[in-house]
Amino acid sequence: AHAQVAQTPPMGWNSWNYFASKVDDAGIRAAADIIVASGMKDAGYVYVNIDDTWEAERGPDGKIRTNSKFPDMKALADYVHSKGLKLGIYSGPGTKTCAGYPASLGHEEQDAESYAAWGIDYLKYDLCSFIPDVMQKQAPNDKAAQMKIMIDAYVKMGNALKAATAKTGRPIVFSLCQYGWDSPWEWAPALGGNLWRTTGDIQARWQSIYDIASQQDGLAKYAGPGHWNDPDMLEVGNGKLSAAENRTHFSWWAMLAAPLLAGNDLPHMKPEVRAILTNKDVIAIDQDSLGQQGTRAYSDGEVEVWTRHLQGGALAVAIINVGSDKTANHPFHLDLAKLHLSGSQTGKDLWTGKEVTLSDNMPIQLDSHDILLVRIDHPGM
Ligand code: DGJ
Repeated sequence: AHAQVAQTPPMGWNSWNYFASKVDDAGIRAAADIIVASGMKDAGYVYVNIDDTWEAERGPDGKIRTNSKFPDMKALADYVHSKGLKLGIYSGPGTKTCAGYPASLGHEEQDAESYAAWGIDYLKYDLCSFIPDVMQKQAPNDKAAQMKIMIDAYVKMGNALKAATAKTGRPIVFSLCQYGWDSPWEWAPALGGNLWRTTGDIQARWQSIYDIASQQDGLAKYAGPGHWNDPDMLEVGNGKLSAAENRTHFSWWAMLAAPLLAGNDLPHMKPEVRAILTNKDVIAIDQDSLGQQGTRAYSDGEVEVWTRHLQGGALAVAIINVGSDKTANHPFHLDLAKLHLSGSQTGKDLWTGKEVTLSDNMPIQLDSHDILLVRIDHPGM
């Protein structure tokens, strides 16, 4: 395992959610520049990750080549590194990536060596064509055997990365992308996985964000320094998400100790999106050194209350209106006993920056899909 990396959930930006195949060298350089200029780097964003569609056919020596969108990967890595950032790349265990570009089957060691030689810092390894190419072919109608074949493929790349990075001394974060099949949280850490997707792909819609967040409950015990549940990359700023939905999405991912990989249109980032992505108090929840993922404490009608234990005995409390109505007509009242707290609690509202006192009789009014996120440094139990 790469013990020295991902001690807190990886933070950065990935090209896929907004740009999909419209990613190229210039776009990655621009992303790196904006991450610096916008204050995102200062807020903790480090990885600039190229997703699918950078590959070309292999050379006669079997080495993977970049296509015309990426004329010189080593030069691009040098550029990203010169900004104090790190460069991520993408492949998969099958013959082809999801978008139909060459993937790593049969070339795992060679590819890991290419990535290491280029100065790559992060690999997302996406299952995709490995399902029909190998799993279904080698073990038709045998789900258990297919899962074993899948795990072996991740072991193989995990080992290849270990060998290649041992030579260079530059670690590569290993990100598993196989949509949560066969409980990766149980076996991915042992093969050097630093994060693993827990679900199918996120979309820039409230329902998708809500469904994915709901599926994280129960997985908290598998997360910790060096190994994280990945509820997928951020959609903050994408699609038609409202301001409340962007805030709640970002807050919820922070409560979940999720990797914070922004996926928005950086060159056209609106100030309000930038403000969300760079909220240092919320990022501090995500990056808390204890590394303990938050859980749903309880739900009451359309309101869910999640808590996360933080370093030094502090507690983060998230109160989320998951319904489509305002709770204004029927204000919500917190039940502190259900959070194992007693007496009123003074904390900081991380979206207004103001002090807030939580008590059982304080009415809480939240717009649809909005959140009250509070950090209590000295909770009274
Ligand atoms: C499926 C993954 O889940 C997405 O995040 C993205 O990497 C696409 N594949 C790219 O083809």
